[in-house]
Amino acid sequence: MAHFSEDISRTFSEYLLIPSLTTKKCVPHLVDLSTPLVKFEKGQTPKIKLNIPMVSAIMQSVSDDKMGIELARNGGLSFVYGSQAIATQAEMVARVKKYKAGFVVSDANLTTENTLRDVMNLKAKTGYSTIGVTEDGTSHGKFLGIISGRDYRPSKDDPNKKVKDFMTPFEKVVTGDFGISLTEANAIIWENKLNVLPIIDENQCLKYFVFRKDYDSQKENPLELSDSEKKLYVGAGINTRDYKERVPALLDAGADVLCIDSSDGFSVWQKETLEYIKSEYPDALVGAGNVVDKEGFDYLVNAGADFIKVGIGGGSICITREMKGIGRGQATAIIEVAKARNEYYEKTGTYIPLCSDGGIAQDYHMVLALSMGADFLMMGRYFARFDESPTRKIMVNGNYMKEYWGEGSSRARNWQRYDMGSENDGLKFEEGVDSFVPYAGKLKDNLAVTLGKIKSTMCSCGSTDLPHLMQNAKITLVSATSIVEGGAHDVIVRDQNMTS
Ligand code: IMP
Repeated sequence: MAHFSEDISRTFSEYLLIPSLTTKKCVPHLVDLSTPLVKFEKGQTPKIKLNIPMVSAIMQSVSDDKMGIELARNGGLSFVYGSQAIATQAEMVARVKKYKAGFVVSDANLTTENTLRDVMNLKAKTGYSTIGVTEDGTSHGKFLGIISGRDYRPSKDDPNKKVKDFMTPFEKVVTGDFGISLTEANAIIWENKLNVLPIIDENQCLKYFVFRKDYDSQKENPLELSDSEKKLYVGAGINTRDYKERVPALLDAGADVLCIDSSDGFSVWQKETLEYIKSEYPDALVGAGNVVDKEGFDYLVNAGADFIKVGIGGGSICITREMKGIGRGQATAIIEVAKARNEYYEKTGTYIPLCSDGGIAQDYHMVLALSMGADFLMMGRYFARFDESPTRKIMVNGNYMKEYWGEGSSRARNWQRYDMGSENDGLKFEEGVDSFVPYAGKLKDNLAVTLGKIKSTMCSCGSTDLPHLMQNAKITLVSATSIVEGGAHDVIVRDQNMTS
């Protein structure tokens, strides 16, 4: 006979936190949001810790290199989407790893033989007004000069004029040596009143530009998540099919952590993938999922997973529950898997971080998920709304929107996401929708508001760090009527058009 669970499957909106004593130490600026990303033994520290408990979803419409850079600069981490060719995914990973705050690889370059017309075309195409001139026209060729708006007059000069005849040549350019720090580069910029400082190596090859404006922005990121060489951390999604080729390419590109991406991870394919990676690349860190119960958790942990991703069917673009009838309320899933994780820790002394994936519809859901046992959160919709997500910003009915589509939608072409054996068994249905989300501006600005809310809630709960919150939070179920009471009620809310 089938096994029936009498438990009701609940979502975050059905819970609230009950405040605990707020002491004088409980002030938002003292709250520490760091959290383990990968497993560790009792008394040890994990190989990677996040500075904020957030990672961006493994999705085409969410996590590319631009998102990876911005999120890591703000303390979190992106998993670059795996639903693309191995080479392009590896390039995205490499771009995040090559990023050095304030040091920009020149994206617009020409040779001395190009013309003013080429300069104008390149400027129109890239939007950059500073152009590097190198022997071979690449971003890393021998540096021969630089072109800025001050070197030519577009309306008066002959468009056929050669770059070599109007660029500022190498002899007249102030340069910095490869290896100098941003502080040193900035000092040169200020002493010489420069707008840009090209950084060159001992062979005179161009490495970076440092722009005056970037110096200040670097100082604004105290939570930046970087490795011992000051390179940003980045993750990458993988699947259970082409991992023998994809994993080495991603590791070569510098991926710090991998994650097997599947809507249902309780499968023999994930076990095989984990075992292969762990035997061929013992130092590689790999998360697995998604699961929603103890059995799934134990299975993937025993196969070697470094963290476990929890959640089926809760994603905002997800129609898995409607299509396949599988899933579980996200709150119930986290609570049960966290219980299994704690038992495992008691038994073995190994702590397995949990990632709550999908279904965060309100900022307060984040604190609930963290209180219920998640160590960090994976979010798609939240990040898709920002400038840094890879999709287009479009005006819809008078409002700016960003595109956001599921990995299981036909737009993402169900790109090898499903663990169904070799041929995917000709699956013809979708598990996700193609949608819009309201455009919200810069990641950094939105994150500041969200993190402020999380810290404030934690202070109300008497916690200044996440492990304390997880151990001590008092969580209560709410009735349908008290949910109504939770919003503004029995008043007429003023809107901007009202006159008083
Ligand atoms: P969100 O943060 O609620 O938007 O959920 C994002 C999560 O939804 C992702 O991290 C995936 O786990 C999941 N997801 C992404 N695409 C699909 C899909 O097409 N169908 C079902 N779930 C999806």
